[in-house]
Amino acid sequence: MANRSPRIGLLSPRVKRWPEGAVVYHIYPRSLQDGNGDGVGDLPGVIDRLDYLADLGVQALWLSPFYPSPMADFGYDVSDYCNVHPLFGTLKDFKRLLAGAHKRGLKVMVDLVPNHTSDQHEWFQLSRLSQQSPYSRWYIWRDPHPDSLPHMPLPPNNWRDALDGSSAWEWDQGRQQFYLHSFNKHQPDLNWANPDVRDAMKDVMRFWLDMGVDGFRVDAVYWMAKDPLLRDDTPNPDYRLDADPRYDALLHNNSNGWPGVYSYLAGMADVLREDAYKDSPRFMVTEAYPSGHNAVSDYLLFYMAMNPKVAAPFNFEGLSLPWEAASWRYFLQTFHQHLSEVSPYCVASYAFGNHDQSRLVTRLGELPARAAALMQLTLPGMIFIYYGEELGMHDVHIPPDRIQDPAAAGDPAGQGRDPERTPMQWSVKRNADFSTAAKTWLPLALDYKTHNVTTERDDPHSFFTMYRGLIHLRTKSPVLRYGELSVLDVGSPDVLGFVRTKAGETDRYVTLINFADHPVRLTNAAVRKFVVSSHPRSKLHNALLESGVELLPHEGALFLE
Ligand code: NOJ
Repeated sequence: MANRSPRIGLLSPRVKRWPEGAVVYHIYPRSLQDGNGDGVGDLPGVIDRLDYLADLGVQALWLSPFYPSPMADFGYDVSDYCNVHPLFGTLKDFKRLLAGAHKRGLKVMVDLVPNHTSDQHEWFQLSRLSQQSPYSRWYIWRDPHPDSLPHMPLPPNNWRDALDGSSAWEWDQGRQQFYLHSFNKHQPDLNWANPDVRDAMKDVMRFWLDMGVDGFRVDAVYWMAKDPLLRDDTPNPDYRLDADPRYDALLHNNSNGWPGVYSYLAGMADVLREDAYKDSPRFMVTEAYPSGHNAVSDYLLFYMAMNPKVAAPFNFEGLSLPWEAASWRYFLQTFHQHLSEVSPYCVASYAFGNHDQSRLVTRLGELPARAAALMQLTLPGMIFIYYGEELGMHDVHIPPDRIQDPAAAGDPAGQGRDPERTPMQWSVKRNADFSTAAKTWLPLALDYKTHNVTTERDDPHSFFTMYRGLIHLRTKSPVLRYGELSVLDVGSPDVLGFVRTKAGETDRYVTLINFADHPVRLTNAAVRKFVVSSHPRSKLHNALLESGVELLPHEGALFLE
């Protein structure tokens, strides 16, 4: 009789899915590389830069929308979910991009915009035809407010458009009703309470999954579910008329974030588990900025609703937490502890920048931004890097006659989100080598001759050298990529310390971040070997560690314990 080896007690290591520990590079397609000389970035341009991305060492790309769109919100107003806007190329170009990325071992995530379409989308065109149209209930249509006067229809409630802060309702002469648009009057909200809408969006997912994309970034998910009674939003008591965007005058407690969102997303995540996609794991990351009193619980609700093997919410603390040790200490401790309790499959997903937010260097300043990069790249989970952050790109002031973003209209500074969307800075050449056009869609940063890939590549102290070094280190180290995180007490209120460990690995990495604008000396940080610092003038040195660790103002550093 064959001698059967005993299986009991043998634990095979869990196979890691690609998102675990992956660094994801966020591409705003208009701004990475112009391939055809029209001043706007495109997919062939991205293909030309795949070698750069592979060399940078990232594991995946996320592309903001490149679909057909009238561009009322720069592609977040989609008029056809299953095609490519001619400005960006063709579907064939996308397939080439996908194949080129896969050949280099890079995964590709595309943007999915489920809450709204363009008003030019066929579904909306059919919906607005009449109340009898089969698409009638695909969008959110309502009669005027009962207080309306004849010939003066008033919107059904006080909800506001998130981009420019005007009413979120637009009167449609044909249907004699208002439609809801949470973002821009050219972006009508789909009616997710309608199962036909939910099925249609799942088909859109299958279209891209069948083509081979590895996942989705899912846009503006809180807006998918609103108060079914459409009650007014509550006025914001802290609103400052001259300083805050108009949208912030209300609290938005009824216009978004209702519980339906969790079941809608759970249904979408289930598509990624369908038999057709079993062989190559897919993943989706949902965009929802915490709005409640406790960001940890806001995030956990998504992990509990969606299957964590295939989905996670973005973690936006790198955009919203105050840059101070105490806030980060509390957040990291509570968040990671709870996450591991929900399921061992939960993947954190840290984005410290994106196309809607002021750039890291502009928000924090150069040295803190460098420390933030070191911190982000040594945290667990998916790490999202917005294009150009690896060069230390900053926001660019846009002259009024060159403003593009509709959100500029509701912004007291009149800039909107254009400052963080300017062209990528590749070299000292004209237009930073982004484009051969006479005029690029947004102006370039004036300092592109010093802050660009070619110049920074040769500088051992540049942002680029630091980012690239950290990304490669993370990729090579199973501890940094897959390990657990525990917060350390390092004996200083100004310093955040955490350790990364992994069962079966002897290396233990310690990250220390000095948030203060003065140096801090730590005498009880148990570190053995200095690995890398974020500070260009760091004094850290292995020979000195025995007598303590001296961190410069705003220095972040990585050690082995
Ligand atoms: C979030 C996107 O990131 C932003 O750019 C867009 O304007 C809104 N959602 C609406 O789609």
